Amino acid sequence: MPKPIVLIAEELSPATVDALGTDFDIRDVDGTDRPALLAALATAHAVLIRSATHIDAEAIAAAPHLKVVARAGVGLDNVDIAAATTAGVMVVNAPTSNIISAAELTIGHILSLARHIPAAHASLAAGEWKRSKFTGVELYEKRVGIIGLGRIGALIAARLQAFGVEIVAYDPYVTEARALQIGATLVPLDELLSTSDFVTIHMPKTPETTGMIGAAELKSMKKTAFVINVARGGLIDEAALAAALRDGEIAGAGIDVFTSEPPTDDLLTSAPNIVVTPHLGASTDEAQERAGVSVAKSVRLALDGELVPDA
Ligand code: MLT
Repeated sequence: MPKPIVLIAEELSPATVDALGTDFDIRDVDGTDRPALLAALATAHAVLIRSATHIDAEAIAAAPHLKVVARAGVGLDNVDIAAATTAGVMVVNAPTSNIISAAELTIGHILSLARHIPAAHASLAAGEWKRSKFTGVELYEKRVGIIGLGRIGALIAARLQAFGVEIVAYDPYVTEARALQIGATLVPLDELLSTSDFVTIHMPKTPETTGMIGAAELKSMKKTAFVINVARGGLIDEAALAAALRDGEIAGAGIDVFTSEPPTDDLLTSAPNIVVTPHLGASTDEAQERAGVSVAKSVRLALDGELVPDA
């Protein structure tokens, strides 16, 4: 009997393939090459993806044998869950696999902005020695506003305690008691924006959250404040952010995620006082191993017709 076909559509850790074992016919395809993806899906029983591959209704329709879509990471905004469910295709992810990595990258962006680390590096590497130009600010006694106090937001709050900052948060789904346990005080979004020195956003991307930080919200922030987005491109309106940076409405931004990846223009990447990284939140050895092994186990269970437990 032929082995079930498991399609790997993005680069995953070697541990993923080890965890899949030898019971499957494992094939690779570039998930961003749409015609190649659709052709490969025609025979696939499972497909493993990260964030670059779009498993939408068209992809589901092209995959008559598909039983499971496995997202090696947290976000499911690149999977049409409704279309999958209608077609009887299970969707699994690895919701805790990369939360520490995402939280640590956020702290990295905060420190990079506060102390101008990337710009100072570029200046010295270009042969300059400019100390006063790169005078920064301490985090100590500053106010950090966390929008979205879920798993990643809570890890960031825990790590920030060591810097002696005051933490406020906005999250309509978190209780006052839970926020206090995390070390944060819940405040309305407008208060968070107008009083924080650093604002970091950790919301899923949905129609409600897309563009939730736009021109008006950026204008309401302190001119000395920094904004960080390591969550999803488009939560902060990119054109509004570029304009706010150019007009000096805020002091700087740390951006890891983009509406279109890679970005199709340099609107944001060329803005002043910005630190950009190419969607690296989950890109650590540890997170990739956890995510790959977790979804490989779920794929094995799903293709064996077993119950896949919640991760
Ligand atoms: C996630 O949603 O977990 C990350 O975006 C994963 C990734 O980088 O692939």
